[in-house]
Amino acid sequence: VMKLLAVLLACVLACPLSAHAQQEPIVIRFSHVVASDTPKGKAAIRFKQLAEQATQGRVRVHVYPNSELYRDREELEALQLGAVEMIAPSLSKFGPLGVREFEVFDLPFLFPDEAALHRITSGPIGMGMLQRLRIKGVVGLAFWDNGFKSFSANRPLDMPSDLSGLRMRIQPSRVLDAQMRALGAQPMTMRFGEVYAALEAGVVDGTENPPSNFYTQDMQDVQSHFTVTNHGYLGYAVIVNRKFWEGLPSDIREALEEAMAEATRYAASIAREENERALAAIRASGKTQIHVLTDAERGAWEKALAPVGVEMEGLIGAQLVADIRRAIE
Ligand code: LMR
Repeated sequence: VMKLLAVLLACVLACPLSAHAQQEPIVIRFSHVVASDTPKGKAAIRFKQLAEQATQGRVRVHVYPNSELYRDREELEALQLGAVEMIAPSLSKFGPLGVREFEVFDLPFLFPDEAALHRITSGPIGMGMLQRLRIKGVVGLAFWDNGFKSFSANRPLDMPSDLSGLRMRIQPSRVLDAQMRALGAQPMTMRFGEVYAALEAGVVDGTENPPSNFYTQDMQDVQSHFTVTNHGYLGYAVIVNRKFWEGLPSDIREALEEAMAEATRYAASIAREENERALAAIRASGKTQIHVLTDAERGAWEKALAPVGVEMEGLIGAQLVADIRRAIE
C-alpha cells in the first residue's frame, strides 16, 4: 500500500512537469533527396513556414534536402522506423513498401497535361490511393507536383531507336524498367544522389528527369543532349509515420493538414514555371543541346512506348489503370 501511495504521490508531483514537457515543440524531420531550389524543395520549405506559423511554434519542422540525411530507399525505412517523421518520395519509389499501384503514374504518355493529372491526384482515385498506404504504417497526406520527364544522354535522341543499347538510370519502378526495355535500352536502378557521379564516370549513359532535377544536379556538365519528350510524369506523395501522426493532439494535426493543403497548392502553382526556368537555364549553359520533338518524332515515341501500358497493367492493377484512363478521357 505504501508503495502504491508513493507511486500516486510521484504521479501527482510529476503532473506539472509533464504539462511543461508538452510545451516542448513537436519536431518534424522532413528528409528529401533533391535540391532546395526545386518544386519539392520549395514546397517543403513553404510547409515548414506554414506549419510553424499555424501552430505558433508548437511544431518545428526541420527540412533536410539533397539526401543530406537519408537517400532514396533509406528514407523510406527511416520513416517506418520513426527516425524521420515526413518524407516525399517520388511515386516511382513505393515498390520497397510493397506498393505497386503508384507506378501507374510512370506509364508513358498516360497524362496529356497537368490538368488531367490533377483530376487524378486531387480526386477520389488519388485519395483512395493515399488511403491504402495506411496498412503500410504510413499516412499519405498529399500529392506534390514536379513535372514531365525528358530523356538525356551523350548523343542525340531524336527517335526511340536512338536509346537502343544505352544504359539508362531509372528509379526503382518496374514500369520504368519496362519502358527502357521497350526502347532497347538497358535500365539500371540507382539512387537519385548517385546519378551525377554515375553519369560522370560513364557507369550509365543517360537518364530521364524533369528539367528542374536535371539542372539543379548540374547534369548539363555530364550530358550533351536533352530531348524534350515529356513522355512521363514525376511527382510525389508526402507521407508521415502513422504512429507519430495519430499520436498528435487533434488541433495540431488539423493545423498541419491545413498547412499541407496550402503547401500542395503552392507546389502545383510553381512546378511548371520552375521546370520552364530550368530548361531555359540548361539551354543558356550552352553545355547541353536541347531538342524538341517534332510531331512525327513524337508519334514514333508514343508508338514505341505503347506496349508498356498493356504489359504492366497486371502489375499495377488493371482496374486502376482503366479507372484512370476513363477519368482523364
Ligand atoms: C529521381 O530519383 O529521379 C527523383 O525521384 C528525384 C526526386 O525526388 O525528384
